Amino acid sequence: MKLVLLGAPGAGKGTQAKILSNRLSLPTISTGDLLRAAVKNGTPVGLKVKAVIDSGGLVPDDLVLSIIRDRLKEPDCKNGYILDGMPRTLKQAEALEKAGIEIDTALSIEISDDEIGKRMTGRRTCASCGATYHIVSAPPHKPGICDSCGGALTIRKDDEPETVKRRLKVFHEETEPLKAYYLSLGQLITVNNQPTIEETTMAIFEALGIKNDKAQVG
Ligand code: AP5
Ligand code: MG
Repeated sequence: MKLVLLGAPGAGKGTQAKILSNRLSLPTISTGDLLRAAVKNGTPVGLKVKAVIDSGGLVPDDLVLSIIRDRLKEPDCKNGYILDGMPRTLKQAEALEKAGIEIDTALSIEISDDEIGKRMTGRRTCASCGATYHIVSAPPHKPGICDSCGGALTIRKDDEPETVKRRLKVFHEETEPLKAYYLSLGQLITVNNQPTIEETTMAIFEALGIKNDKAQVG
């Protein structure tokens, strides 16, 4: 399966990508995670994109395309992949197609802007491994500590309310038109966000025709 996850900032793309990755044994490639890692490691790419990410804008198309092309050449991608946060503009989608990068399905998680506001104030992200939690819907076992690696949980700089507003605006203007693009290719599936992560996973599994095996969810 070659899957693209679409959805507003905070829709749950990263959360569901992790669950789908485990269930389908496919790698998730998140441009947001790759860019944040570059910022953290102070690489030339990281230095170039930090201010753009912090302000809630989009980094240049050419830069993310080159990152994704390199990542998809790695052997773990040969049986499929889940793209989280890419493509993000029509130009990126067309460039993927031009580069021969195949997509079977674009899954859009639908959620209102109001709901996003609540999500973002409760999200916590591990400073070491990038794992995501929510203080209400997906809390860690010990407050402030990552279950996976013991790292400190922090608030992403771009989760500040004003920056979230800008990210939502950018999403509606630049990324939402991708739904019409994938619809025209017969590849779009939409799933409504559900009140819990588990219920959203079930709705996604049903939409993708994945066997509903509770033991492997979460
Ligand atoms: P990126 O990291 O991709 O951010 P995003 O798209 O804004 O999405 P988020 O990661 O904020 O949200 P998510 O949908 O993954 O939600 P999550 O699962 O965490 O990109 C960051 C930046 O990098 C961009 O702004 C841009 O600058 C740059 N960038 C990245 N890709 C780019 C590209 N291709 N081109 C140009 N620039 C690019 O869930 C959110 C919270 O809700 C969590 O706390 C979670 O626990 C909770 N939650 C999830 N689902 C549920 C549920 N159903 N019920 C209750 N709680 C839930
Ligand atoms: Mg994410």
